[in-house]
Amino acid sequence: MIRILDDLDLLDRSLKVVRNDRYLFIPIKEKPSKWQLEVIEKEVSEFEICIHSFQRYAKPAKSILDILEDKLPPHLLACLPRSIDFVGDIAILEIPEELEDYKTLIGEAVMNVFKRVRSVLAKSSAVTGVYRVRSYEVVAGSENTETVHREYGCSYLLDPRKVYFSPRLSYEHYRIASQVVEGETIVDMFAGVGPFSILIAKLHRNVRVYAIDINPDAIGYLEKNLRINRVEDKVIPILGDAREIIQTRLRNVADRVIMNLPEKAIEYIDVACIALKPSDGIIHYYGFEDGSYALEKAEAKVIEGIVKAGRIFDKVLSSRIVKEVAPYRWQIAIDVKVDGCRIV
Ligand SMILES: C[S@@+](CC[C@H](N)C(=O)[O-])C[C@H]1O[C@@H](n2cnc3c(N)ncnc32)[C@H](O)[C@@H]1O
Repeated sequence: MIRILDDLDLLDRSLKVVRNDRYLFIPIKEKPSKWQLEVIEKEVSEFEICIHSFQRYAKPAKSILDILEDKLPPHLLACLPRSIDFVGDIAILEIPEELEDYKTLIGEAVMNVFKRVRSVLAKSSAVTGVYRVRSYEVVAGSENTETVHREYGCSYLLDPRKVYFSPRLSYEHYRIASQVVEGETIVDMFAGVGPFSILIAKLHRNVRVYAIDINPDAIGYLEKNLRINRVEDKVIPILGDAREIIQTRLRNVADRVIMNLPEKAIEYIDVACIALKPSDGIIHYYGFEDGSYALEKAEAKVIEGIVKAGRIFDKVLSSRIVKEVAPYRWQIAIDVKVDGCRIV
């Protein structure tokens, strides 16, 4: 429960956990939202949300705001970044233009508050290009940005300046991996450094995962991560374009296909259908949608893609908002069951 609350950024680390004969009381920052509750309910069978008194840790940790209070003009304090992503021992934040002159100070404050952080990176572009990588500027700490990120008992060696990785997808990696059934073959079409493929292989004894990526650095790290996590015998890394690889080598093999390329996944639905076994299978689709009815719009696109590919759409197993990526724009996850081919 503590791990899940921490992943959801709900755990209040300034307060002490309390234990009595029957219960463990875990302090949270705020009441969980509806989707956060759904996540918790899936993982923990019994819990209650209640009001309880907690003791503070003796020396309250200094916040970034405490450190910068007398170093920044007061009107700029409100512009300080509200969230920080941690990838291994690297802290990643978005520094708004108004704070450009203070970025080194901000980076040093982050290192001061989070003692295990070795480098602080400021996002200097959006996620772009085929490899889905952003540019970053090192604003404090080491220029060496290769790190080891730990998630659900797996370790991932990676450099965020060379490959895509988001700690905000940790629950998605776990959610999909925990649905896999022993004996399955999985095609991870856009595998990156392997957070879906490796966790699947870690959690299951008898699985085969084909992990494809077009970025040579991602496949390089994936190969190392297979060894670090001792799953080389279950995951087959493949460098190349998922369309070409599936069409030439992976037709009709998969019980399950993972399509984690939200920008473009819809263009690859036909090849995901080709990878699936002729009888049936499951597609885990990720997409971006704007505005109202985002889930419904994404579902409709996926169903249309499946039918156009000549397969029978069976049902939507689940659809959920993964995260907000911009105001009124969401990353959506849709799991669909696909049946055999339509006879025309
Ligand atoms: C959003 S990232 C997801 C990575 C990984 N699944 C994760 O959760 O961290 C998408 C990945 O797809 C890769 N990619 C983009 N186009 C591709 C293609 N046509 N074939 C295979 N991989 C591709 C990129 O290099 C990138 O690593």
